[in-house]
Parts: sequence; structure tokens; C-alpha cells
Amino acid sequence: MAQLELFSHPGPGVRYRAGLCSTAALGLLLLWALTYLPPLLVAYRSQGLWLKQSTYMEQPTVQFQYEVLLVAMTGADPGSFLAWSTFPAFNHLQEDQLRVPLISTREEDKNHDGKMDQLHFKLELPLQSTEQVLAVQLILTFSYQLHRMSTFVMQSMAFIQSSSPIPGSQLYVNGDLKLHQRQSLSHCGVDIRYNVSVINGTSPFASDYDLTNIIAAYQDRNVTTVLSDSNPVWLVGRAADAPFVINATIRYPVEVILYPLAVV
Ligand SMILES: *[C@@H]1O[C@H](CO)[C@@H](O)[C@H](O)[C@H]1NC(C)=O
Ligand SMILES: *[C@@H]1O[C@H](CO)[C@@H](O)[C@H](O)[C@H]1NC(C)=O
Ligand SMILES: *[C@@H]1O[C@H](CO)[C@@H](O)[C@H](O)[C@H]1NC(C)=O
Ligand SMILES: *[C@@H]1O[C@H](CO)[C@@H](O)[C@H](O)[C@H]1NC(C)=O
Repeated sequence: MAQLELFSHPGPGVRYRAGLCSTAALGLLLLWALTYLPPLLVAYRSQGLWLKQSTYMEQPTVQFQYEVLLVAMTGADPGSFLAWSTFPAFNHLQEDQLRVPLISTREEDKNHDGKMDQLHFKLELPLQSTEQVLAVQLILTFSYQLHRMSTFVMQSMAFIQSSSPIPGSQLYVNGDLKLHQRQSLSHCGVDIRYNVSVINGTSPFASDYDLTNIIAAYQDRNVTTVLSDSNPVWLVGRAADAPFVINATIRYPVEVILYPLAVV
């Protein structure tokens, strides 16, 4: 019984959600009982009680953070590109390459359950008639939260990249913002270790906006989101005065989340 007391009164700084953790406490009590009843242990083990991991389903609470970083390649030379972001320090680093696009976004709650289901994102990059776009790289950032078991809060991204030898008029993307877990999430408590910016927008250094550095730091995380099955469609045939358009639909699907069972 001493163990049970300990578990239901966590120390300062540890926040458990009462309902779920009493399930955990029950698991601990079961563990205690089973430890002292070896014959039962064998019986229960054969019924799969000692699974180490389980899963649950949850629709995440996702919100577009209105952070955008765009690089559009306009030729083969290293200097042939246009760039823009929502970070003033990044824009400051661009000189002639800075080009401000027109952006419109809309998040939609299709089933009216109070959680957004998808983002419609449209970007129009104005081009001169002599300019062309051969490749684009785009980062959009999101606030991504889970609440059903543990409270998990992170800032994550969708990375969109597409290129073609033929100059484009539009890039159409339609995919899922999927959770990628390299580690199972806790069954209770609060986890904010990845509630950090994907892009350090306060930094004045160009290296902090380098896509390879941003992606390397992001991939170091155990839990991320990845834009998957995005099926990029590269459309060609731009009218001389037309902008280059990025038309993206990013869905926030229900996830199957891995978590450890309370049995240690
Ligand atoms: C996550 O980070 C954002 C931005 O820094 C902050 O406003 C928010 O309070 C944080 N959320 C939690 C649960 O710590
Ligand atoms: C962002 O960059 C600034 C300047 O380099 C640095 O002082 C700050 O610690 C960085 N913030 C994060 C969260 O890495
Ligand atoms: C990431 O997962 C590994 C393996 O599960 C673990 O050893 C490491 O501590 C985790 N890192 C963080 C920051 O939680
Ligand atoms: C973007 O795609 C949607 C379909 O998902 C379409 O209805 C809309 O017309 C497209 N916008 C542009 C500018 O092509």
C-alpha cells in the first residue's frame, strides 16, 4: 500500500491527471499483487497482460502558427532565388532576393467538433515576365497538442519541396500532417519538451535560417510531424504577368498514439 500512496501523490513540479493516473496506480497495485502471487503471474502473462506498449486514438489539436519560410529557385546559379519569411531578421538578410508574396489561409473544422481538420494555404509569388520558378522549398509551422492521455504540446512543421526542369505556374499539394513517434509518449503528465520554435526567428544569423540546419535540428527530436502523402503536382504554363502559386491543403488526421503501459 505504501507504493500506491507514493504514486498518487507526486512531488512538486510533476503534474499528473488524476483520472488516468489512478488507472496507473491500479496497475501498480496489480503489479504488487502479482509479484507476490507467482502462480497467478504466469497465468496473466499468458493472457497478454505484460504488453509493454499500447496505442490509443486521438484527433490532435492543431493550429497553423502563421510562420512561413519560402525559398524559390529561379535558375541554376546559387544566387538565382527569391526568398521571404514571416521573420524580419531573415528578410533583412535577403537583399535583391527578397520578394513579398500574397498569402491567404483558412483553417476548417469540417465536423464542427471544435478541432480544426485542415488548413487551406495559398501563396502567390509575384514574378516579372522574365523570371521563372524551377523549384520551391516552403516551411509552415504548427502548434500540435494531444490531451487524451498525457498533455503533449509541441511546435512542429510541414516541409514542402518540389522542383522541375520545366518552369512552373503552380504547385498543388494535398497531404496529411502525420505524427512521427520515435519514442512512445507518456500515459499521463505534461510533456512540453518540444514546445520550442522550429525556426529561431529572433536570431540575426543566416545559419539559423539555413534549411539543412533547421531540418537537422528538427529531425533530432523524438516526436515530430511530417507532411506525408502530399502528392505534389507541378503545373506549368504560366502567363507572363501571372504570379507563381502554391496551393496547399494540409489535413490534421486522427492519430494512433503509442504509449507505454503502466506496468514497468
Ligand atoms: C508553448 O510555447 C508557447 C510559445 O512559446 C507558449 O506561449 C505556450 O504557453 C507554451 N505552452 C506550454 C503548455 O508550455
Ligand atoms: C535564438 O537565437 C538567439 C541569437 O543567436 C539566441 O540568443 C537564442 O538563444 C536562440 N533561441 C533559441 C530558442 O535557440
Ligand atoms: C529520445 O528517445 C531516446 C530513446 O528512446 C531516449 O534515450 C532519449 O532520452 C529521448 N530524448 C529526449 C529528448 O527525450
Ligand atoms: C487550389 O486548390 C483548390 C482545390 O483544392 C481549388 O479549388 C482552387 O481553385 C485552387 N486555387 C488556385 C489558385 O488554383
